Formats: sequence, C-alpha cells, structure tokens
Amino acid sequence: MLTVAVLISGTGSNLRALLDAAADADYPARIIVVGADREAEGFAHAEEYGIPTFLVPWREYDSREDWGAELAAQLEVWRPDLIVLSGLMRLLPPAVVEAWSPRIINTHPAYLPEFPGAHAVRDAIAAGAVQTGASVIVVDDGVDTGPIVAQERVPILPGDDEHSLHDRIKPVERRLLIDVVRRIAAGELDLAAAAASVSPSS
Ligand code: GAR
Repeated sequence: MLTVAVLISGTGSNLRALLDAAADADYPARIIVVGADREAEGFAHAEEYGIPTFLVPWREYDSREDWGAELAAQLEVWRPDLIVLSGLMRLLPPAVVEAWSPRIINTHPAYLPEFPGAHAVRDAIAAGAVQTGASVIVVDDGVDTGPIVAQERVPILPGDDEHSLHDRIKPVERRLLIDVVRRIAAGELDLAAAAASVSPSS
C-alpha cells in the first residue's frame, strides 16, 4: 500500500477527491497525513476521514528555507512514500525538493508548460487562449517545470471567467491525480524514470 502525504493551502477539493478514492478498499494508496502552510479549509476533509493534519504557517518563518526545514521535519515524522502538492501555494525550498525527489508530485490547473505559476487560470483567460488544461508533474526546483506525467486539455468557453473555468478544470485535475497516484502505487508509473527523462513538452 502506497502511503501518501498531501499538502494543501485552500479548500482542498482535489484532496477530497483523493480521500474519497482512497476510501475504496481496492485503491492501492492511503493518505496518512495532510499538511498545510496556512489554516486551510481543506483540513476539514482530513478531519472527516480521521486523518491527522499538521500546520506549518509560512507567515511565522523568516525565510522559505526555515519554513521548509520545519515542513521537512513534519514530513520526516510520517515518512510517506509519496508527497502530493494539491493546491499548495508556496514553492518548496530546494532542500525539501532534493530530500524527497522524485517522490513529490504537483497538480496544476493548466496544460504545462503553458501558464505556470500561481495564477494559471487567470493567465489563460488574460492571454485570450481558447483552451487550457490540467497537468500532474514531478516537482523539481523550478516553478511548474518538472516532468509531466499526465495532462489533458480543457476548452475555454465564451463567457468563461476565472471561477467558471477553474470549476471545469478541477474535475479533470482530480481524475488525473487519482489515476497518477493509482499508477504509482501499482508500479505502472516509475517516478524515478519519469524524473530522469526529458519532459515531452520541454
Ligand atoms: C487546484 O486547481 C490546483 O491545481 C491549484 O490550486 C487548486 C486547489 O484547489 N494549484 C496551483 O495553482 C498551484 N500552482 P483545491 O484546494 O480546491 O483542491
């Protein structure tokens, strides 16, 4: 059984979908802990499932490195097989990435390498794009630059705003994330091999 730590910053709707999937006895992964960089609404989903949570509030640390050191210490307590960044809106410091790579994946609401960063949905609309997407990547030291392990297109419809578009992207993200975690757990997706290969889009 693959053990998973999920890190969030917000509502955690993708976390919720992963928790629901993992509740199925046939799903080969279990979420063992949920962490956040702020008081995240999404903790409620973990609590509902009786899953432990930890908070490392980024505002209370002088630097990204200090924050990351405490985050790493918390993760070390749980020693998950995989870390899923599911809406964590802080960049991990290089030391944390190095310690856990390639066992950190991230979901992103765009068809990477298009629209990296914290405002991917807004940026796609602002660019006048007719399509965007959802991606799951292996985390590296860049901003959404790691090898892509799954992605799918989502059309941008006339009249879409950031909210309506993000609402259509998230179900796609959830499906991709649940499938990627399943494939990793089943040995069908080798993250080390994915990390060693050049991303098809880079
Ligand atoms: C998701 O769309 C996730 O891809 C995005 O935040 C949302 C979190 O939603 N992450 C990023 O933009 C990271 N660059 P949720 O809290 O409802 O799961």
